[in-house]
Amino acid sequence: MTSARYTLVKLSAAILTMLVGIGSSAEPRTTIDAVYSKQQARGGERLYQVHCLVCHDKKYFQPVLEVWSGQSVGTLLQMMSATMPESDPGSLRDKEYVDILAYIFSLSKLPAGEEPLENRGTKLDEMVIATP
Ligand code: HEC
Repeated sequence: MTSARYTLVKLSAAILTMLVGIGSSAEPRTTIDAVYSKQQARGGERLYQVHCLVCHDKKYFQPVLEVWSGQSVGTLLQMMSATMPESDPGSLRDKEYVDILAYIFSLSKLPAGEEPLENRGTKLDEMVIATP
């Protein structure tokens, strides 16, 4: 192989490595990445006690999250706000559903962070449900 050709092969390999690197750094955020705050989960707990506890005890949610693992947080939120509380679907404000979801995350032993979970743009559609 001529040295010019060899250089070209090396260069292509380097570019390929770089592209693969970019691909992996764009991995989606998951619910393990501290995506809600403790304070938000406390607010969500109060809402849960008023609107959800009659039908779902605290132990209900962790297995549900496990089943939903790999799907987007946005899809779970949509399902929840469209169908729950079963007695009066969609009766809570969007932010209240998000706060309850933060509480559900805390029940499922997901780590809390500094920033609250927020339903802005496509952020939650791009966030993947993962359990510890
Ligand atoms: C009147 C009873 C009732 C109330 C109140 C209620 N739910 Fe439900 N919920 C159900 C039933 C029934 C199901 C479906 C059967 C099951 O999986 O237990 C369900 C299922 C769910 C699921 C799992 C759905 C799935 O497909 O995996 C979630 C999450 C959920 N509820 C969240 C909530 C939240 C959050 C609230 C409060 C805002 C709430 N529910 C209030 C009765 C209720």
